Amino acid sequence: VNLKPFNTFGITVHSKYFATFSSIKVLQTLLSEVKDRNLLILGGGSNVLFQGDYDGVILRNEIKGIELIQETDKEVILKVGAGENWHELVLHAIKKGWGGIENLSLIPGSVGASPMQNIGAYGVEIKDVFESLEALEIATGQIRTFSHEDCQFGYRESVFKKELKDKFVITSVNYKLRRSSQLNTSYGAIEEELNLRKITEPSIKDVSDAVIAIRQSKLPDPKKIGNAGSFFKNPVIPTKQYVELQKRYANIPSYKVDELNVKVPAGWLIDQSGWKGKTIGDYGVHKRQALVLVNYKDAKGVDILNLSEQIIQDIFEGYGIKLEREVNIIH
Ligand code: FAD
Ligand code: EPU
Repeated sequence: VNLKPFNTFGITVHSKYFATFSSIKVLQTLLSEVKDRNLLILGGGSNVLFQGDYDGVILRNEIKGIELIQETDKEVILKVGAGENWHELVLHAIKKGWGGIENLSLIPGSVGASPMQNIGAYGVEIKDVFESLEALEIATGQIRTFSHEDCQFGYRESVFKKELKDKFVITSVNYKLRRSSQLNTSYGAIEEELNLRKITEPSIKDVSDAVIAIRQSKLPDPKKIGNAGSFFKNPVIPTKQYVELQKRYANIPSYKVDELNVKVPAGWLIDQSGWKGKTIGDYGVHKRQALVLVNYKDAKGVDILNLSEQIIQDIFEGYGIKLEREVNIIH
């Protein structure tokens, strides 16, 4: 199978074994046949970079269903199949008037991948609405429920990217959404967009529309230009180091993380180092968002990984900050 349609970077690589599953039963049967081969669970393919043909089995999650399992005057709890499309779930919630995930509009990919890296944007992370999830343990075929605490969420992190990497298939996620609108418009860009639209008392849908407009203005549409969103995480550095850097780079931006640390936008570092818009043959750094690496046509995953390595080195030499990749590299 050519995997180009199954990864938003649009990398052409192949895999001999590729199957989809739309229920836990089918998944269990497939897993019992896979045995000792390499295994990759794929959702929307919007956070992966393939390095070459995949020597193993790819199973694509298509478990569907949005179920209202609990409700009070104030809240609803939804159980959502891991193969549902994330943005469609957001739109569904908005239509129903359920708040909590409108800031996460237009993030590509599946529901099942949302807890993997604790997806986040515009002041909200999935951990803010996460209730629990069910996952199937690959080694035993058993279903296990994970609580909020079990997931160990952090900035673009969870237990599924660390100790439990490649050990579980997430099959459904429960989210707790609000009936009342308690909006989070503190993120500067949202405020500006709402002002521009002359909206003073925004609804859930207004916030979603603003987020969509902001995203469309700077992030490349994977249908047109291959990419996986931010390629790197925004580095968290000690405030002490930041103050030193400020002496050399007076306008270096930062966001407070806690008393001792700040987050610096990697996009700024990459931009300032002259990488923004740089194109090498088929690939390069996006011209409107330096944090996004792009494949214009038929780039190879290895080339894009090499480019990211050059950027990491360059930023380290200039600022003493080591950027970490956000995208999952698949060998
Ligand atoms: P995939 O790419 O298919 O998989 C990602 C990883 O999760 C892989 O390691 C895979 O093996 C694993 N995985 C997937 N599904 C399961 C499962 N059910 N069980 C176990 N493991 C699984 N992310 C943000 O956080 N915020 C953003 O604002 C954002 N913006 C983006 C913008 C663009 C244009 C693009 C292309 C990407 C953006 N991303 C963003 C990244 C991406 O959308 C998210 O990481 C998303 O959650 C990936 O979902 P997916 O289904 O495509 O995952
Ligand atoms: N900046 C530049 N030049 C650039 C890009 C950014 O100078 O080319 C600076 C600007 O100072 C800007 C700041 O970086 O104010 C922040 O940029 P932006 O608001 O675009 O957000 P980001 O930090 O680059 C993060 C997430 C995005 C998320 C947005 C909105 C990470 C790694 N990325 O990007 O998530 O959508 O904030 O909340 O945290 C993703 O994870 O794939 C992703 C797209």
